[in-house]
Amino acid sequence: MAPDPLPHPFVLRASGPLRGDIRVPGDKSISHRALMLGALAVGRTRVEGLLEGEDVMRTAAALSAMGAAITRTGPERFDIDGVGVGGLLQPEGALDMGNSGTSTRLLMGLVAAHDLVATFTGDASLSRRPMARVATPLKLMGADIALAPGDRLPLTVRGLAPALPIRYRLPVASAQVKSAVLLAGLNAAGTTTVIETVPTRDHSERMLAAFGAAVRIEELADGSRAIAVDGPAELRPQTIPVPGDPSSAAFPLVAALIVPGSRVTIRNVGLNPTRDGLVRVLEAMGARIARLNPRRVGGEPVADLAVEASALAAVEVAPEIAPSMIDEFPALFVACALAQGRSRLSGLEELRVKESDRLAVMAEGLRAAGARVEERADGLDIEGTGGAPLPGGARIDPRLDHRIAMSFALLSLACRAPLVIADRRPIATSFPDFLDLMQALGAELQPAEDG
Ligand code: S3P
Repeated sequence: MAPDPLPHPFVLRASGPLRGDIRVPGDKSISHRALMLGALAVGRTRVEGLLEGEDVMRTAAALSAMGAAITRTGPERFDIDGVGVGGLLQPEGALDMGNSGTSTRLLMGLVAAHDLVATFTGDASLSRRPMARVATPLKLMGADIALAPGDRLPLTVRGLAPALPIRYRLPVASAQVKSAVLLAGLNAAGTTTVIETVPTRDHSERMLAAFGAAVRIEELADGSRAIAVDGPAELRPQTIPVPGDPSSAAFPLVAALIVPGSRVTIRNVGLNPTRDGLVRVLEAMGARIARLNPRRVGGEPVADLAVEASALAAVEVAPEIAPSMIDEFPALFVACALAQGRSRLSGLEELRVKESDRLAVMAEGLRAAGARVEERADGLDIEGTGGAPLPGGARIDPRLDHRIAMSFALLSLACRAPLVIADRRPIATSFPDFLDLMQALGAELQPAEDG
């Protein structure tokens, strides 16, 4: 997978309403987990609708390097011949995680409970992200972990098999940390328990149960949730249909809301209650979103969303809702910049340690496009235009962050002069078809000048 050496700057603009019917690609979080649990099952797991984005392909490559046989049998269809819990093999070289935090943190959990040593490397963005949050509990489980200064990549994990079971309260609301500990717990000698004060995405728990692991979830007296898994576990192979990614759907959804006259249907959107915060917040802002054909796909709630351009009102988002839309804030900030009134978004410190510092980068870019934004330590205040277009005309560097690139591509649709997105490459990590789908809806894509 040779990365494209050229950034391919582009502009996206709308000369009329967006119209059409599209399907979003498979959920990134679920795709990573399907590959990992398939690799740990005994026998052949089939995955349909897998996201073929770069991040997920990093997970596939790492699992292949550790002995799982992963075969692409058609578009978005993969077979995984698993090696069994405890059966991963010593990889020959370092595991290159590219831009993918989820690959890194979840695979650290797998390696921590296997008798092998693995070095994890990544791109400049991933190499700035904090890894102590995962290393701390995995060390308690017996792994030996050497991190680069600042507790970052590159790092080396020497696993212990079987791992030591722990009971661990998450100090940050993070599904990645929760999942890393639960995955290590599959090969621990006894029961591993993770306690979360605020609910985070629960795909790992759901899928572990589907693969036959003994998973128990208990509400504690203080309102937190304890998730326990018994090790050593034996996983039975599954057929997994992956629902569409609500975090990808967020971009055409907000685009349809902010381009006047638009009417768009987005099919196959996962609406797990730990992921649907953006839809709920947009509805509270006055967005016209109909949830059609509600159904279950692979044990996850899914619906088609019919969206119409809407006059949006400013909003205040309660910090408790943040984990259920943690990756959607950049798209929400764009909606707020066009809403009526001043939006206040708080409790968002975690956005500073995503693929970029999303509070700083979004504040800077929104201002460059002409929006009035105040950056605080834990959030943004955004003064909306009430639907009037912003001046635009700025050049935006997405800083290796797919969601920054896509958010400013959206904002460009509501600017008098389009925004130049200086690098399109990051989009391929999670949503390779994004620009094709936006064009299918009627947006115009043009290459822009380099430099
Ligand atoms: C993810 C969890 C979230 C999210 C990320 C995917 C996952 O990260 O931002 O894109 O698949 O578990 P945190 O656990 O760091 O909040």
